[in-house]
Amino acid sequence: MKIAITGATGHLGNTVIQELLDKKGNDTIIAVVRNKEKADKQFPAAINIRYGNYNDYASLLKAFSEVDKLLFISSPSNDDMERVVQHATVIKAARDASVGQIYYTSFSHADHSTISLAKLHLATEAAIKVSNLDYTFIRNPLYSEVFINASLKESVASGELVTNTGKGTLNTASRDDLAKAAATLLCTDGYRNEIVDLASSHLWSFDDLAETLTEASGKKVIHRAVSQPEAIQHFVASGMPEPAAEFTAEMYQAISDGDISQTEPHLTKLIGQETTLKEMVFRSI
Ligand SMILES: NC(=O)c1ccc[n+]([C@@H]2O[C@H](COP(=O)([O-])OP(=O)(O)OC[C@H]3O[C@@H](n4cnc5c(N)ncnc54)[C@H](OP(=O)(O)O)[C@@H]3O)[C@@H](O)[C@H]2O)c1
Repeated sequence: MKIAITGATGHLGNTVIQELLDKKGNDTIIAVVRNKEKADKQFPAAINIRYGNYNDYASLLKAFSEVDKLLFISSPSNDDMERVVQHATVIKAARDASVGQIYYTSFSHADHSTISLAKLHLATEAAIKVSNLDYTFIRNPLYSEVFINASLKESVASGELVTNTGKGTLNTASRDDLAKAAATLLCTDGYRNEIVDLASSHLWSFDDLAETLTEASGKKVIHRAVSQPEAIQHFVASGMPEPAAEFTAEMYQAISDGDISQTEPHLTKLIGQETTLKEMVFRSI
């Protein structure tokens, strides 16, 4: 079985490859990358490295030759129109190379999410259906790392976590857990033409995060809930570029409105224990 992974040099793709190697199966693992030098340094000799750029149909057609299962990791571009075009290019190449089954990293609850990037993922899912390829939509939730990262050190220093999430809760998952789940899906037959939503089975709130930060740092941190315009002002004043501030406040508003608070059982079923909020926080600060 030939399993190919696009975006293989990125955080998610790299961890999926490590997970596949750990499973010690007999599959041929193909890393599809836009930077072969980077991949040569990153991967052991057992990994077959092929050049494939989302902007270059011919490179992808070649990279996908004889691939049975393709994990198509969504493009990291900030411009969703650019992403739509790149994704269509990847899907057309996969169709023309007669890939056996395409696994796409979509977005959790994409069909009713109010977060704007859901539209890109739904459009990509639709294009995959148009291709008539067999598919598995791996709907990833927001990464826990989007919220729980080294920037929390600033909250520890200031003693406050400022958001417009109110009392809202959310269902994030760590990128490592999502990579493990994707590797498990790739090594399991089935899931043809199915959606697997990997939203966490646990919820957390920013009040929980402030409490955990207090515990981890030994310094009192509170969650200060503000309005959406106040949050944007605060983020910009703290040095965040305006588009990023607006996107962050939009995400926080969705959390406040309860739009990211639906849990799903599949991630736990696929990987066992999920990484906890506490583990993530202790690692980050
Ligand atoms: N659910 C979430 O919260 C969340 C958050 C952030 C991102 N995402 C999405 O999830 C994807 C995977 O996450 P990640 O953390 O692994 O992202 P990442 O570390 O930024 O990795 C992105 C990968 O895409 C590759 N890439 C970029 N442009 C390309 C092109 N034109 N052709 C081929 N490959 C290209 C990059 O190659 P290089 O190594 O050469 O740069 C890298 O391997 C992201 O791309 C994004 O779509 C989801």
